[in-house]
Amino acid sequence: MAKTIIKTVDLRKTYMQGRIPVEALREVNLEVREGEFLSVLGPSGSGKSTLLNLIGALDKPTGGKLFIENIDVSALNDNQLADLRIKIGFVFQFFNLIPRFTARENVELPMSIAGLSKGERRKRAEELLQMVGLASRMNHKPTELSGGEQQRVAIARALANNPRFLLMDEPTGNIDSKNAYEIIRLVKRLNEDKGVTIIMVTHDQQLAAEAKRIVYMLDGMIVRETVS
Ligand SMILES: Nc1ncnc2c1ncn2[C@@H]1O[C@H](COP(=O)(O)OP(=O)(O)OP(=O)(O)O)[C@@H](O)[C@H]1O
Ligand SMILES: [Mg+2]
Repeated sequence: MAKTIIKTVDLRKTYMQGRIPVEALREVNLEVREGEFLSVLGPSGSGKSTLLNLIGALDKPTGGKLFIENIDVSALNDNQLADLRIKIGFVFQFFNLIPRFTARENVELPMSIAGLSKGERRKRAEELLQMVGLASRMNHKPTELSGGEQQRVAIARALANNPRFLLMDEPTGNIDSKNAYEIIRLVKRLNEDKGVTIIMVTHDQQLAAEAKRIVYMLDGMIVRETVS
């Protein structure tokens, strides 16, 4: 069996809304193995983004534990957390590209943070953009690209530092259905051909069904799971 790369144990997140606690996540236990393509499906407010942000080390839990490759993430200091984040690919609903940068420069950015030379960055950015079908759009800025193209740049950027896994929060939430289908095809190809481990959050049942494993969330809890 493939090795476990993500494991949550009774993971909790409680936000304080003034003096009123909002339990966004309650005792979530999830294990993800290398090479899996998993979707997290649930209605608005069920805690999907909260869970993904915790797994991506973008936010800290208020209870329970998160292990990434057997490392207890809650025990890491800020420098160690920053090093960990470099190894996690995150794709956001609103792409989050830098507007004044071209597609290639956007993809190069995480590699400069990781300390790659200019030549290496450029070569890898071009390879990645080619892989997502944007060879002819490398010098375009985000405003000169369609929503689907922008999201493909964001996926290339997320893959820049060879992440251990890819986290996607509603990656097709702002894309028309034709382009959404293209994105899903790309995601499946990354999983099946390149072996990238993927967790995709969505409230779209049809999209979720593209993954082999579906985890259902409701009121901050995992309530059901199916494997096809
Ligand atoms: N920063 C915050 N402060 C207070 N409450 C929050 C905060 N972020 C999220 N919440 C609450 O936590 C719960 C879970 O939110 P979350 O964003 O994880 O839901 P979601 O499943 O991603 O929803 P959607 O499908 O709308 O994106 C909601 O009740 C939300 O209002
Ligand atoms: Mg969300």
